[in-house]
Amino acid sequence: MKKIGVIGSGSMGSGIAQVAATAGHEVILFDTNPEALTKASAKLQKILNRLVEKERITDAEAKAIFGRIYFVDNLSAYKECGLVIEAIIENLDIKKSVFQKVEAIVPKDCILASNTSSLSIASIAAACERSDQVIGIHFFNPAPLMKLVEIIPAIQTSDATLKRAQDMIDSWGKLTVLAKDTPGFIVNRVARPFYGEALRIYEEGIADPATIDWVITELGGFRMGPFTLMDYIGNDVNYTVTETVFKAFYFDPRYKPAFTQKRLSEAGYLGRKSGRGYYSYAEGAEKPAPNKDKDLGNQILWRILVMLINEAADAVHLNIASKEDIDLAMTKGVNYPKGLLQWADEKGINKCVKALDKLYDEYHEDRYRCSPLLRKMKKAKQTFF
Ligand SMILES: NC(=O)c1ccc[n+]([C@@H]2O[C@H](COP(=O)([O-])OP(=O)(O)OC[C@H]3O[C@@H](n4cnc5c(N)ncnc54)[C@H](O)[C@@H]3O)[C@@H](O)[C@H]2O)c1
Repeated sequence: MKKIGVIGSGSMGSGIAQVAATAGHEVILFDTNPEALTKASAKLQKILNRLVEKERITDAEAKAIFGRIYFVDNLSAYKECGLVIEAIIENLDIKKSVFQKVEAIVPKDCILASNTSSLSIASIAAACERSDQVIGIHFFNPAPLMKLVEIIPAIQTSDATLKRAQDMIDSWGKLTVLAKDTPGFIVNRVARPFYGEALRIYEEGIADPATIDWVITELGGFRMGPFTLMDYIGNDVNYTVTETVFKAFYFDPRYKPAFTQKRLSEAGYLGRKSGRGYYSYAEGAEKPAPNKDKDLGNQILWRILVMLINEAADAVHLNIASKEDIDLAMTKGVNYPKGLLQWADEKGINKCVKALDKLYDEYHEDRYRCSPLLRKMKKAKQTFF
């Protein structure tokens, strides 16, 4: 499988192309927008130059990597590809039509993969004749830096396709985890309370964004607080993912989006990219000071953490992925300081159940329902590891 096709040369597609070319493949990078191809080419050149400056790769290696990427404006170049990864706009109908076009060109045994964050792989596969060769290969942004890749077989995907896809991505130096074809796969499902519970605490007036961010980074050991992270991702983008997951879960209140985020998004307070979000990014703007009350801080941290633990436990309960893969996904995909299930063991399953039941008693809202798995484990005095 020497030649790899990548469709879409945006943020993800250009990163995936770099990863595959660095692993020694010839990469055919296709986009319908010529400007996007020109931009991707310039961006890749810049990134490779920077890697040379930092002495991560030699000048000759950079030239060789860049030389292996072909920027093309038509799909006919895909006729020798063994694997094609699609990273175009997040729209099911457009993705389906692109998969049909590509399937008609590629060799019979070519694997067709989607990098979708939120669409069902089964529905994309259903558009293809060889649906057993369709699979989800979900990279994280930026693809060259983030180690984790979620591999998502659809119900139509054959075991042979799964094995070939996973072996290939493993050989690129990535850490692969296997996820069920359900909304958000592992990371984008389990991470919902990181934003959702922080927003809820803010909306209730318990603490402001600066305080919650301080709690999560200083007391929790996370690299970034939820509000800083939402401003970084873009409040419009983060809101859309939340809303998509909420709808896809048939409006389970656990995933309910927050009005705060919707209004910020509507007002154009998108975060860093628009100069203003939860914080101001204007030149010279000072960050508001957090309230460093340790008691309050520990209460906030535990509330967010136990909601994350509950989500991770429920993903195990519903066989979304193995407990090992869930902890690996959260530490390598979004840099959590510790796996959530390991954290649950350390805190004590009993304590987790008690905290969730206390929240439920207080609010009587379904979003605080404790996972049946945690309850079962508490009874049996079990731990995850
Ligand atoms: N951005 C992220 O953080 C992230 C992370 C993981 C997965 N994803 C997923 O990856 C995919 C791409 O996201 P992105 O952020 O790179 O988007 P992007 O907007 O940066 O790039 C998309 C590219 O696809 C091109 N395109 C659109 N329609 C096309 C078509 N029919 N044929 C060929 N090219 C077409 C566009 O011209 C654009 O260059 C989406 O499915 C997204 O959900 C995104």
